[in-house]
Amino acid sequence: MHFYLDPGGKLTGRIRVPGDKSMSHRSIMLGSIAEGRTTVSGFLEGEDALATLASFRDMGVQITDPDAGELTIDGVGLRGLEPPKQVMDVGNSGTSIRLMMGLLAGQSFDSVLTGDQSLLRRPMARVITPLSQMGALISSHEGCPPLEIQGGRALTGIHYDLPVASAQVKSSVLLAGLFASGRTSLTEPAPTRDHTERMLTGFGYGVACDNGVISLEGGGKLTGADIDIPADISSAAFFMVGASIAPGSDLTLEHVGINPTRDGVITILRAMGADIQIHNERQVGGEPVADLRIRHAPLTGIDIPIEAVPLAIDELPAVLIAAACADGVTVLRGAEELRVKESDRIASMAEGLSQLGIENRVQPDGIEVVGGEMTGGVITTHHDHRIAMSFAMAALRASDRIKVSDCAHVATSFPGFAALAVQTGLRLEAAEE
Ligand code: S3P
Repeated sequence: MHFYLDPGGKLTGRIRVPGDKSMSHRSIMLGSIAEGRTTVSGFLEGEDALATLASFRDMGVQITDPDAGELTIDGVGLRGLEPPKQVMDVGNSGTSIRLMMGLLAGQSFDSVLTGDQSLLRRPMARVITPLSQMGALISSHEGCPPLEIQGGRALTGIHYDLPVASAQVKSSVLLAGLFASGRTSLTEPAPTRDHTERMLTGFGYGVACDNGVISLEGGGKLTGADIDIPADISSAAFFMVGASIAPGSDLTLEHVGINPTRDGVITILRAMGADIQIHNERQVGGEPVADLRIRHAPLTGIDIPIEAVPLAIDELPAVLIAAACADGVTVLRGAEELRVKESDRIASMAEGLSQLGIENRVQPDGIEVVGGEMTGGVITTHHDHRIAMSFAMAALRASDRIKVSDCAHVATSFPGFAALAVQTGLRLEAAEE
């Protein structure tokens, strides 16, 4: 499936983008190992979160079919999962595989996790290393999936200093820690999304965070809870950029999660001159939520503050489209993690920006983008959902038609993107050929 975009237009109206992907995964995982019933609303019915849901069903958990983002999970408790009858294929989803590794390392049964071509190339050693220190036995194919996780291992709590700022690694270690004897603790080189810590707390499981050391004791109990998942700021980000770059735009994004470990995109775009207003800020289920009003504003290139990078890691492709429309040069550094996402996002963005006539210089850990006039062109997404949606927004400022090839993966995180984009003003047509 491809996106064909006519140039120009503006984004207006009020929309709610789908639920947060990170929280949707965690709601299934924690709800499954909790005692009693968990109800979830705002669940993201995208392929990645549905892959997690299917895996826990494979392990015997009763989960209702999501209906308009609502579902219930009958939790089986910390020791109640059943051996899966088959290899669990989580498709494109790095969050599923990395978090489930930690959870599965502590089970009495063996399991195998695999995924699609992109996932089979993604690094897992970063998770295998700390889990092995806890006593897990996981075999991989040169550090990549498929992963065979041996059951029946007695895990022991460890202290681990994370070498990379990764919420997936942090969460995997914490989930293994639930099944380990004693205390599991860790530090991060920079703060990353803390949804695991917050949601564990919401399920009544004690998680401490003292002077940057995050810790929990193994062998406790999670109690079923009601989870209200806000709209995903990572999905909102495409519209934030689109409204910022397109003259005449005035768009409100409702009920967006603005957790401070996720709000780097707001900080960065505002530093570039974006007009983003935060309205109606409130707490929903232990997470801060707000409505965001974005109006077009002239943008200026900046040096993206390095500390904002982990707080905006998934939004950086969209930010680079804003950079292409800004006056001057935008410098992104300290973002080597982008190279191991669903595609090498530094290379994918550089290639696409060059296609549209935007000068850029690739660095090992980032990219410099020189703002300018965007032409039309053909974009290769490398089957990466966030590359596809970022370049769809570029059409708002391009001088000619853009074809974004191979957009099927948009459904991993943002089902209904094309319809919402058209509703707000993007001149987009999705077609098979
Ligand atoms: C996620 C963590 C991030 C992010 C991913 C979701 C999570 O990955 O890119 O989309 O839900 O924990 P890393 O931990 O690899 O940075």
